[in-house]
Amino acid sequence: MTDTQARHQKLPVLSETGFVVLRAFRERLDPAEWESLTYLDWKSGGDSNFAVLASATGEDDPRGFWEHGKPDKDGIWTSNALRAPTLRRWVTSVGARFGRVRIIKLQPSTSEAEVTAQHLHLDDNNRLNPDGAGWVVRAWLNLTDDPDSYMILREDKDDPATEHRIPMPAGAQFVVDTERLWHAAYHTGKAPRYAMITSFESGPALQAWIDANAVDRRSASPRSAALG
Ligand SMILES: [Fe+2]
Repeated sequence: MTDTQARHQKLPVLSETGFVVLRAFRERLDPAEWESLTYLDWKSGGDSNFAVLASATGEDDPRGFWEHGKPDKDGIWTSNALRAPTLRRWVTSVGARFGRVRIIKLQPSTSEAEVTAQHLHLDDNNRLNPDGAGWVVRAWLNLTDDPDSYMILREDKDDPATEHRIPMPAGAQFVVDTERLWHAAYHTGKAPRYAMITSFESGPALQAWIDANAVDRRSASPRSAALG
């Protein structure tokens, strides 16, 4: 752990691996909530476009909040959010302070080798985050059903032995310390993958939401067991 990280509040549940996979979101989602949004050309982790649901200013701006002198917290809904009421409610129902909220539209990957060689990256979530405040991590909600696609996470970018994979069927929910773990999605199939990515402040609210959505291994179905 670096000095920078040690100065912030972090969630113990993320301390060992840097990520946690939760129960899938079961509420029905209308594809219009992501397909009707305005997408910007913004490359991250592959051939991607992003729709901004919450930004630093409420403008349709995909850039880091630091460009506006604020940490990645207190996101302001953009006009896109008006067309995504269920997704907006998902974010606010977590109850934690949130920053940027975006939908990634990711085209199918060329190969897993290309993803691990070219697209693994760390996020810059905590620039301008004051000492003592909650460490910013990211939560995913997979919108399309991509059970054969998975998020690749590595503690060491060049060491496959440190790798974990999270499958991404519809409704998959997981939280990742993306400033610690190298990450990129390997997306198979022919159609784009859509997922919502939200920056959340670590703290009691986020912990409570993670606890409430923990995978119940005693009653887990084969599918949710695979998620866990
Ligand atoms: Fe990232």
